[in-house]
Amino acid sequence: MKTETLFVCQECGKQFPKWMGKCQGCGAWNSVVETKITREISQAKPLVDADGGIVLPITDISSEPQQKLTLGLGELNRVLGGGLVRRSVVLVAGDPGIGKSTLLMQALANLSARGLKTLYVSGEESAEQLRLRADRLGISSPDFLILIENRLEPLVDKLEQVQPAVIVIDSIQSFSCQDVESHPGSVSQVREVAGRVIQRIKASSSSCLIVGHVTKEGAIAGPKMLEHMVDTVVYFEGDRGHPFRILRAVKNRFGPISEIGVFQMHEFGLEEVTNPSELFLSERPEAVSGSVVTGLMEGSRPILTEIQALVTGPVLGQGRRTCIGVESPRLALLLAVMEKRLGLNLGDHDVFVNAVGGIRATEPAADLAVFASLLSSVVDRPIRAGSLVIGEVGLSGEIRRVSRCADRINEAVRLGFRRILLPVSDVSGLRSQADVSIIGLQRVTDLRDALFD
Ligand code: TYD
Ligand code: MG
Repeated sequence: MKTETLFVCQECGKQFPKWMGKCQGCGAWNSVVETKITREISQAKPLVDADGGIVLPITDISSEPQQKLTLGLGELNRVLGGGLVRRSVVLVAGDPGIGKSTLLMQALANLSARGLKTLYVSGEESAEQLRLRADRLGISSPDFLILIENRLEPLVDKLEQVQPAVIVIDSIQSFSCQDVESHPGSVSQVREVAGRVIQRIKASSSSCLIVGHVTKEGAIAGPKMLEHMVDTVVYFEGDRGHPFRILRAVKNRFGPISEIGVFQMHEFGLEEVTNPSELFLSERPEAVSGSVVTGLMEGSRPILTEIQALVTGPVLGQGRRTCIGVESPRLALLLAVMEKRLGLNLGDHDVFVNAVGGIRATEPAADLAVFASLLSSVVDRPIRAGSLVIGEVGLSGEIRRVSRCADRINEAVRLGFRRILLPVSDVSGLRSQADVSIIGLQRVTDLRDALFD
């Protein structure tokens, strides 16, 4: 055994042999802290699986798609790219109280009901608390095993003994490893614990889901490095005041990262929402200015969302800009186009834009809807009932084509939208449908006539 004294940046996790006031890794000030780490001398184990260390022709590797373990919740499988890959490690991050433990317990419940041995390791809650939640969720399988532990070494021994197919570790911040002399949740602990767990999983036949809390700034507490260490990172988001929850992949070594999963929190656990458009539009006010519906593509699925804008003023000095679910550079661009091409200067007005339901309307295809909602609020006129607005807005005020137009329109027609405002260049590729009027627009100056009664 060898004890080393290292200096670890609490922001980015980079290690240095000596103390320094400014981290050379991320540039943060006063973030480097002295930490003692004890290591076994023969610690040269690589962080790779059984195939590591051998030079092979790439054609000798089997290219069969990996078997994925489906997790019972379709929306969770969708985000993971079909299911859980064996020997993979997934980090599930989110605010405290958002429903991470509930989500993962439900996932394990389904696996254990199918006869797979699952282990739920909690370093945060007591066995009684877990039992209460399990009762609430209707979990009754004897293959759903629990372990109350927050030390790494006994956990590793138990994994060896029990050999579960799927393990949940709730949460990485509650665990500590003897060899690191700092408190649980510190960067050095998180990094060491995660590193050893990942090493163990790669050498086993299990898969692991790790819960990670996020800090107030929205980053996963602990080193950014944690995201690089695991195979998949998903964020569980939502507003605690609302029942909607959105699961979003930000990294996935085994699938796309564009898919989202939508859930609703009920009294007896999370229910998947297979029809998010209906949910996002369910509380939409009728005939109110500033409200426009657009069609977004979230991965392979079109989702209709309401965009709301509120423009007030004039105010003294520079107006405020607040956006939720829309990027502020995008809003600035649209306001500049509005000033130049429509002669509407909102510099001294407060502007608020919101993509309803916690969705992110960051696709360029949402531009025209944001633009239309601003215009509708400025002139204080509701847009015509039953209209869907899609299109990207260019700097010279031109309306540019969007991808997968037909999918977006079909979703809108299914939900009763009968007037589709879209880029003129997208019109020719569309099949005409009975009682649906397709209105092609070339420039933002064409919008005003098409938008209002
Ligand atoms: P939890 O899964 O404990 O959140 P996290 O692990 O992310 O901290 O769930 C938190 C909230 O969800 C809690 O306030 C209670 C609520 N909840 C329900 O509304 N219904 C349920 O069935 C369960 C289990 C929890
Ligand atoms: Mg929890």
